[in-house]
Amino acid sequence: ARTAVVIPAAGRGVRLGPGAPKALRALNGTPMLIHAVRAMAASRAVSLVVVVAPPDGAAEVKALLDTHALPGDNPSGSWGKTDFLVVPGGDSRQESVKYGLDALPPGIDIVLVHDAARPLVPVDTVDAVIEAVRDGAPAVVPALPLADTVKEVEPTAVPGSPEPVVATPVRARLRAVQTPQGFDRDTLVRAHETVTDDVTDDASMVEQLGLQVVVVPGHEEAFKVTRPLDLVLAEAVLARRRL
Ligand code: CTP
Ligand code: MG
Repeated sequence: ARTAVVIPAAGRGVRLGPGAPKALRALNGTPMLIHAVRAMAASRAVSLVVVVAPPDGAAEVKALLDTHALPGDNPSGSWGKTDFLVVPGGDSRQESVKYGLDALPPGIDIVLVHDAARPLVPVDTVDAVIEAVRDGAPAVVPALPLADTVKEVEPTAVPGSPEPVVATPVRARLRAVQTPQGFDRDTLVRAHETVTDDVTDDASMVEQLGLQVVVVPGHEEAFKVTRPLDLVLAEAVLARRRL
């Protein structure tokens, strides 16, 4: 079973504040996207990485990947055993993932989707997701129990005004979902062809097909870099790893 990873990296990173597109911002001197590609290439099972670049930034991203190739690698298009492709993204994450799937060659039968904004996911998490798909699950998501209790509210039109609470789901049954999410290729392609609602993760599209999605343990270091404080945490994790 050949495995590819689609890395949506086309977002602007509005919540991180002004600057370059989020995936191209540096963590301890190296662009977040490069950390994310390395995290995927670290898995022996991953033979291809498809990076979905900002719509006007595909050439720049391709050059960046070549720059960070290991000495002795094929000068363009691969890091050791891992080939890479770069395609331009779309207006939403969902659309960007679709463009990545469209670029997959024949012969790939397992697809992972991994946020460039989760640059520090350990290889053991990647391998656990791949293994669960190999064992027959059509969709696999890494996730962690929640520290905070979660309340569903009725959002108000006025920002900052008190919001009525609607429900409090039992915390012990909730999981905070990360990436990489892993899929049987044909299942994910069908989900993207069928589901037209806006979603915030890929697995929920497979749920909408009526198929069983399963959760495997995620990892604290697979957190998503979203707001400025997350940059502080990410750089501290890298310093602890001496990268
Ligand atoms: N993404 C994408 N195409 C988009 C929007 C998002 O490929 N049109 C990617 C981002 O690059 C990121 C991942 O989806 O790797 C998760 O999205 P998020 O953390 O929301 O990143 P941004 O959309 O860039 O951030 P923000 O929502 O703060 O603007
Ligand atoms: Mg976003």
